Amino acid sequence: MIQGDVKKRIDTWIANYPEDQRQSATMPALRIVQEANGGHLTTELMDEIAEYLGVAPIAVYEVATFYGNYNHQPVGKHQINWCNSISCYLRGGEELRAKLEQKLGVKPGEVTADGKFSIKKVECLGACGGAPMCKIGKTYHENLDEESLFKILDELE
Ligand code: FES
Repeated sequence: MIQGDVKKRIDTWIANYPEDQRQSATMPALRIVQEANGGHLTTELMDEIAEYLGVAPIAVYEVATFYGNYNHQPVGKHQINWCNSISCYLRGGEELRAKLEQKLGVKPGEVTADGKFSIKKVECLGACGGAPMCKIGKTYHENLDEESLFKILDELE
């Protein structure tokens, strides 16, 4: 996996740090490898990153499991990162997520049969003023209700 364009992209990040600080590139390396693997990481890939950076595998696992942007199971073409924190909860986020699950026929952690969508519960995305909200890809969608959420989904290819 760490070869060709993936290797080049990781090397660009490694070059930003002193030679003996290659582990500083752990987060971008995880992101790059995750993208190249269709949106999720595996233990084998994390081990490969550790070997490439010259660090113990646990150092990579710690980062990959701490931050919510890393996925450890297959995801859909569009991953719906659903805010599960207090402001969104108080503004009906849980009820809306239940409607979303019903519409798509999947629970968090699952992928729709056509591979188009997956749902992931995440902690506060820093857009509490727009609760309830979710992030799909790199786009924030705020002040959601059933109508606006389903319209967004229907418009995604
Ligand atoms: S609680 Fe949902 S964005 Fe902060």
